[in-house]
Amino acid sequence: MSSERWSVDSWRSKPIQQVPDYPDKTVLGDVEKQLAGFPPLVFAGEARKLKRALSKVANGEAFLLQGGDCAESFAEHSADNIRDFFRVFLQMAVVMTFGAASPVVKIGRVAGQFAKPRSAPTEKQNGIELPSYRGDIINDIEFTTAGRTPDPKRLLEAYRQSAATLNLLRAFATGGYANLENAHRWMLGFIKDSPQSGRYQELADRITETLGFMRAIGLDAEAHPELRQTDFYTSHEALLLGFEQALTRVDSTTGDPYATSGHMLWIGDRTRQLDHAHVEFCRGVKNPIGLKCGPSLKSDDLLRLIKVLNPENEAGRLTLICRFGSDKIADHLPQLIRAVQREGAKVVWSCDPMHGNTISAGGYKTRPFERIMGEIRSFFAAHQAEGTYAGGIHLEMTGKNVTECTGGARMISEAELHDRYHTHCDPRLNAEQAIEVAFLVAELLKAERAAFPLPQVSAAE
Ligand code: PEP
Ligand code: CO
Repeated sequence: MSSERWSVDSWRSKPIQQVPDYPDKTVLGDVEKQLAGFPPLVFAGEARKLKRALSKVANGEAFLLQGGDCAESFAEHSADNIRDFFRVFLQMAVVMTFGAASPVVKIGRVAGQFAKPRSAPTEKQNGIELPSYRGDIINDIEFTTAGRTPDPKRLLEAYRQSAATLNLLRAFATGGYANLENAHRWMLGFIKDSPQSGRYQELADRITETLGFMRAIGLDAEAHPELRQTDFYTSHEALLLGFEQALTRVDSTTGDPYATSGHMLWIGDRTRQLDHAHVEFCRGVKNPIGLKCGPSLKSDDLLRLIKVLNPENEAGRLTLICRFGSDKIADHLPQLIRAVQREGAKVVWSCDPMHGNTISAGGYKTRPFERIMGEIRSFFAAHQAEGTYAGGIHLEMTGKNVTECTGGARMISEAELHDRYHTHCDPRLNAEQAIEVAFLVAELLKAERAAFPLPQVSAAE
């Protein structure tokens, strides 16, 4: 398969899962044509820069923080939401940078995370059966025939929203808002309000001291742009391939095809069949690619996928996003790590502690905080045992104070889930829970760094 020629539409002749049934294919074709003429959302050079940053992660010299909505929605598209998410994300990054004593590569599930794979093509409510909601880029969450009918015009709206979101994120990342001192001040606000503040205080104090020292020796944001701006990248699941194809461009510098809908794309756990369409599309674009690895993935299949997706064994090209569940990870991850090691494949290992830990409680889908942290801990432990580098985490989170996951310092109970349960799809960590994860991961990162010391800077003279 990988020896066959790739083209931007070669995926169309492969078997495919999770495709919406558009009643009017002509309109769909027209919309895709229109999108193909639109400007790219991201640039090939940025995707290459991200790949270089991820190659550092693959080598144990940086850590990956990837996170955001399960599904972005058209209804909740506001500057406040984007700002709140970005603010929490930066606080997490500061805490984790300190723990890892190395750069944190920041990738949002944002500005394009609209299409959702579903476990069933239809949904039944009160005896009525309609197509499942597949994300705002495809249909509406409202349970009506009109709402649930896939509408091609939604692709244009998703493009528009992605462009507007990206524009604001770029302004936040480079226009002074991402100042390190800001992130630090917000983090102190979090500590003050957290019922678990005692646990996080020590690390926070050390960060405060470090920043004070930096200021004292003249390392301030005025003189050092790296203290007032940051690199922030976007990512989403490459599920709706007509949209992805329409936004693929040949880079004029290298002549290579790049998906320009986001910096990094990933292949979902339900669409990673070796000879199917999603793998076919992703193997040909040169962006960094993620591959979700769930409990059904066998070592041999993983190695075949790695060969197809990263034939040149380029560090930073492929991130394995593991999502087994806190009770399954120990049975699955070690053998995958060993297979990858035997093969000498260069990958980033990242932990998605969300998708294997979803349970039902009181009529809601939820994820207990302890299971989320449990999977992260087991992920680090498995890597420690195999002598490999736990390189990242992948979270579903929001900057808002929602009640979708139980537990955390505020001990959200199952009975409280209904208070502010806003997600369009899976339950997300709220702002506080997300920052708590960052503090707990920082402790794990500190221990990991001891096993993976960074190259020493040699003293001058
Ligand atoms: C997701 O990341 O939202 C998702 C659907 O994940 P997975 O493919 O791992 O189930
Ligand atoms: Co999800």
